[in-house]
Formats: sequence, C-alpha cells, structure tokens
Amino acid sequence: MTPDTPDYGPDRQAEVYLNGMLEDERPEFPVSYEDLEKRAREELSEEAFAYVAGGAGSESTVAANDRAFDAWQIVPRIMRDISERDLSVDLFGREYPAPVMLAPIGVQSILHEEAELAVARAASEFGVPMVCSSVSSYSMEAVSDELGESPGWFQLYWSSDRDVAASFLERAEAAGYEAVVVTLDTPKMGWRERDIELGYLPFLEAQGLKNYFEDPAFRERLEVDPRDDEEAAIASWQACFGDASLTWDDLEWLQAQTDLPIVVKGVLHPDDAREAVERGVDGMVVSNHGGRQVDGAIPALEALPDVVDAVADATAADRDVPVLFDSGIRRGSDVIRAIALGADAVLLGRPYALGLGIGGEDGVSAVLENLLADLDLTVGLSGCASLDEIDRSTIRRAER
Ligand code: FNR
Repeated sequence: MTPDTPDYGPDRQAEVYLNGMLEDERPEFPVSYEDLEKRAREELSEEAFAYVAGGAGSESTVAANDRAFDAWQIVPRIMRDISERDLSVDLFGREYPAPVMLAPIGVQSILHEEAELAVARAASEFGVPMVCSSVSSYSMEAVSDELGESPGWFQLYWSSDRDVAASFLERAEAAGYEAVVVTLDTPKMGWRERDIELGYLPFLEAQGLKNYFEDPAFRERLEVDPRDDEEAAIASWQACFGDASLTWDDLEWLQAQTDLPIVVKGVLHPDDAREAVERGVDGMVVSNHGGRQVDGAIPALEALPDVVDAVADATAADRDVPVLFDSGIRRGSDVIRAIALGADAVLLGRPYALGLGIGGEDGVSAVLENLLADLDLTVGLSGCASLDEIDRSTIRRAER
C-alpha cells in the first residue's frame, strides 16, 4: 500500500485491527512518538540516544517546538465528501504522494548499521523523498544507488573549503539528487549539554565522514589516505566543516556551482526569507534544526506564518518559492497545522531516526506508514479532500 491509495488511512487501520482481532497480533513498533522515544531510550546506547533526542542548552526550544502545535487547533468541517483524499503535492516540477519528506539526519550509523541505506529503502517503499545529509554514514552515491528511481535531495553543509563544497555539489548532481538543501543555521554546532556531559561527538570517531573521506577535493587537503591517518583526516574535517564567515553575498557563488534547485534551510526571520527570495533561492525550510542550535529560539511553527507572508510579498507573480517546514512534526495533525499556516510540505526528523534505531528499515517503514495513515484520515476528518482545501480557516489560535 502506498499513500496514493485512495483509502490509505482506513485500509491501514483495518489491517491493524484485523491482525489484532484474528491473529492476536499487535504492531511490532510503538505507534505514538512518546512510546517510540521510550523504546529507543531502552534500546540505544546512552550516547546515541542523547545525540538524537538532545538539543541546545536547556532544550527549551525542543520543548517549545512541541508546545507550539498545541497553540493551534483544527476546526473540522462536516458534509464535504471526503470519500477519496488526494494528499499529493508538486515541488520543483515533480509530484510527490504526500507533503512529507525525510529530513537530513547525519551519522545514522550510531542508530543502526544499515543507517541511510535502510532509510532509503523505507523511503522508496512509500515514494517519500529522502534528504541525504552531508554527514551521512554511507556516501551520497551509495544512498542514491539504494534510492534507485525514488526521489532524493542532497543536504549541503557548506564547507569553508570551497573546493570541497563545490565537489559535494558536483557529486550530488552526478548521483541524481534532484535538489540541494543548504543548511545555513549550522556554521558551527550548537551547545548541546547532553553531548557535552557525555563528552560525545560521533564525528570524532570518524562516523558520518564518509562523504568527506571519499571526496577528491577533501583528500587534496590530506598528506596520506584517511585510512592511514584517521586522526589527521578528522582534524582536517573539523577545520573545514562549516563557514562562519558566510553572508548573503556568498550565495551567488553557490548558485553558480549547480543547476539543481537550491533550498535554504534554517530560516526563522521574515527578513531572511525576503532576502533569500530576492537573492533567487528556489525554496526554503523554516526550521530551528529541531532546537539543536539556539536554545531559546522561536519555535519554528511560530515563525512560519510571518515567513510565508514575507515570501508571498517578495515573490514575483511568475515565480513559485515553496516554503517547507520542520521541527516538531510528530503526527498527522501536526502536518495539517503546518500546511494550514502556509507550508507546502514538511520534513520528518526525529520520529524516523528513532524508528531506525529500534528497527532498522522496518522501524522507519512503520513510522512512515503510521504517519501517512494518520495524515490521510485526519485530513479527511477535518473536512478536506486535498491539500488545497487546507488553509488558515482550517485552524484557529487556541484560547490560553
Ligand atoms: C539533525 N538535523 C540535521 N539537519 C541538517 O541539515 N543536516 C544534518 O546532518 C542534520 N543532522 C541531524 C541529526 C539529528 C540526530 C537530528 C535530530 C537532527 C536537523 C533535521 O534536519 C531537522 O531540522 C530536525 O530533526 C527537525 O526537528 P524534529 O522534528 O526532528 O524535532
């Protein structure tokens, strides 16, 4: 079953209930996000769990991301023929079955040995696009091979070594990725208390550095093969991972390196959204990186409406600049609220990472299957038969 099946949600629901009734069988993986997190805490190493679940500082923004959804409530409509729902969305000329993508999540080898390969297989089962991280545990080429015809986007951490950044873009294009997501909120990693308390950064164990170690431009920086002096290679990666000197004027350089659509990730301020549109970006992701960068930062959902308005203001009539959203998507109703506030699609992050941690490919598939079924049902029960019917009138601010 794929999410373009007309009765996807109810079919999935029926399958689970029938298995329960006839076979006395319960779903293998937790359904709620809270239980997924609980299981992952039990099964993963302390370090891996902290790396995924943790955020910057006191983690106030991680918590605020979750609460922000409760500030908006859906006002369901009735009598609207929702017998068939169409969740499809068009982005950069390609149609996707649902407004859901898999967010770039690095170093997945700390969660499961099959890491991004398992995620790519699960994503392709549903036709859901996967965004492969710069710091993936398998190379971007290996991930793309695993995706086959299924859509993939590549996430760029913009290296301070321009040759490395250019080489990554060239390789992403050659490997068949269809868009570049350039993450601009992470020129350096945030102050993450859990990781600091454990003295743990997976990259220093050479995890998540495959793209670098196999890259011809990166290898130019080294005197010997990374396998012969791993420490030197890791130190060289640390020295060029991000570029804190970047300003908007640098964007032109990036645009000149690739023909792929460029989507900037980490937009929270409407002035940055406006600037990005004026500088010709093709899309953006409203995101606070799941609360991992700036503790006390605005919940991404709160930032979304102002960014959407700024983009609409700044965009010429003949241009379309999609606004994507992440940071706090846990359930179908969260997707609906983000769409209602103007997002074209959302990126799912921690839920699928936890699914990977507890069940590899099957765990990711279960998370996706449940989220898509929940989304399909909740869209319909809210009175909408397609995403076009979800707008600001679908929700209202909760009374405090
Ligand atoms: C991330 N995120 C991330 N973003 C990115 O652009 N490149 C990356 O390599 C990573 N790596 C990464 C690792 C882990 C463990 C997490 C949890 C997150 C951020 C990610 O793309 C997304 O913005 C957040 O996950 C959204 O927040 P939620 O919904 O997962 O809480």
